[in-house]
Amino acid sequence: MAPLFDSHAHISDRRFDGCRDEVVFRIREKLAGFMEIGADMRSSFEAAACARKYDECWAAVGVHPADVDQLSDEALSELRRLAAMPKVRAIGEIGLDYHYDDGLPEELQQLWFRRQLDLALELGMPVCVHSRDADEDTMRILKESGCFSKERARRFAALPDGGPDARVLMHCFSGSAELAAQYVKLGASISLAGPVTFKNAKKAVKVAEQTPLCRLLIETDCPYMAPEPHRGETNEPSYVEFVARKIAEIKGISFEEAAQATFENAVRFYGIDHPALRGRCDGRV
Ligand code: NI
Repeated sequence: MAPLFDSHAHISDRRFDGCRDEVVFRIREKLAGFMEIGADMRSSFEAAACARKYDECWAAVGVHPADVDQLSDEALSELRRLAAMPKVRAIGEIGLDYHYDDGLPEELQQLWFRRQLDLALELGMPVCVHSRDADEDTMRILKESGCFSKERARRFAALPDGGPDARVLMHCFSGSAELAAQYVKLGASISLAGPVTFKNAKKAVKVAEQTPLCRLLIETDCPYMAPEPHRGETNEPSYVEFVARKIAEIKGISFEEAAQATFENAVRFYGIDHPALRGRCDGRV
């Protein structure tokens, strides 16, 4: 079976209380691994604990723009401590979300996006970015923070397409194919989730078509946005298979190829020494 990797999940979410063991059972049956992503201080702590508990789990710690009012100098120190824990591989999810009128003030979101980016840059860690209805500010702040600087790219080997590797992942990408191309040029990778499988998913399908395979990751962002044919249900990491199937269909490749490529992209992005790749040195990873 081709290895599958969910590059963005939230199984610490309260919605999985009472069924988490079954969800993990299905992960073990179907996936080579998954990233458990923090979205606030509690879930960041739980993500680090999840990575310690499960062999197939790695973690990211960070605070989502909807919850940055939890942040302070002390909380940032706590994130720094969590980032040093075993199998914690990235800072995220962090970013900007201007979708809701009653969301936190833009200035506050920007302040803590910058400060968490500074932390990732200081630690030389990958960044998992959430951006919703905030295309321009997200791009500007990522540039201004130095995420796409030559100095940052020098930390990492060039990508298989020869481009720089900024270790910036635009998670659950909802922008245009043109914006995706700009990010790819700057050294970022693009992650697609359930929406690419939806019947009206013109934009995401175009992004998948045009983004080089070596820059594409797949995710569930569970428990939200379950892919077809599970749309509307509680999403879970094992459903990442359906995102891989859709990528295969769009790219005109086999499911195995899509799964293998997105798996390799994810373990490379997060710097995971995965048992399934150990001993391989054909330069593809
Ligand atoms: Ni998420």
